[in-house]
Amino acid sequence: MHQDMEEILISEEQIQKRVKELAAELKKDYADLNPLCICILKGAVPFMADLIRAMDIPLEMDFMAVSSYGASTQSSGVVRIVKDLETSVEGRHVLVVEDIIDSGLTLSHLIELLKARNAKSVKVVTLLDKPERRKINLSPDYSGFTIPNKFIVGYGMDYAEKYRNLPYIGVLKEELYRS
Ligand code: PRP
Ligand code: MN
Ligand code: MG
Repeated sequence: MHQDMEEILISEEQIQKRVKELAAELKKDYADLNPLCICILKGAVPFMADLIRAMDIPLEMDFMAVSSYGASTQSSGVVRIVKDLETSVEGRHVLVVEDIIDSGLTLSHLIELLKARNAKSVKVVTLLDKPERRKINLSPDYSGFTIPNKFIVGYGMDYAEKYRNLPYIGVLKEELYRS
C-alpha cells in the first residue's frame, strides 16, 4: 500500500470484479444501441478504459472535461466546458461514465446539456456514489459502490493531481490534506 494511504477502501480485485458486473449489465441494455460512451476527464479514465474493454458490443467513445463554475457553495450547478465532445449526440444513446458522484452538480448540468443537444437517451454509470454529499436530487442509473464520506484517491481520483494511477481506491491520511 502507498505510504500516504490510511487504508484501502476498495481493492483492485474488488474494483475489477464489480466493473465486469457493470459491463455485463450494460452489454445487455445497450446491445443494439451503439452507445456513445462519454468519459468525464480526468477522473473517469481508468474506469472507462476497464469498462469498455469488458463490453464486447459495438460502441463509440468520446471525452469531455468540465470545471465547476464559481464558488462551491453556489447551487446553480453551472459548469464550464473545458473540452467539448467531437461527436454529435443528436439521436444517440449516451452513456456518461464518471468515477464518482459527490454533490451531483456537475453531472446534473451535463445531463441537461446533453438532452438539450437532442441525445435520444442519457444515462449515467458511476463507479462510486457518495450520496451523503449530494446537493441536488440525482441518482446514477448504474453504480459500482456506495461509499461513506471519506477522502479517497486512486483509480482515477486525485488529491492535487496525485494518486490517479493507483490501481485501488484508498483513504488518504488526514495529515496530508488537513494542515
Ligand atoms: C471530480 C470527480 C467527478 C466530480 C464529482 O472531478 O471526478 O467528476 O468531481 O463531483 P460533483 O458530484 O460534486 O460534481 P474533478 O472536478 O475533481 O476533476 P478530475 O476528474 O479531473 O479530478
Ligand atoms: Mn472528475
Ligand atoms: Mg479532481
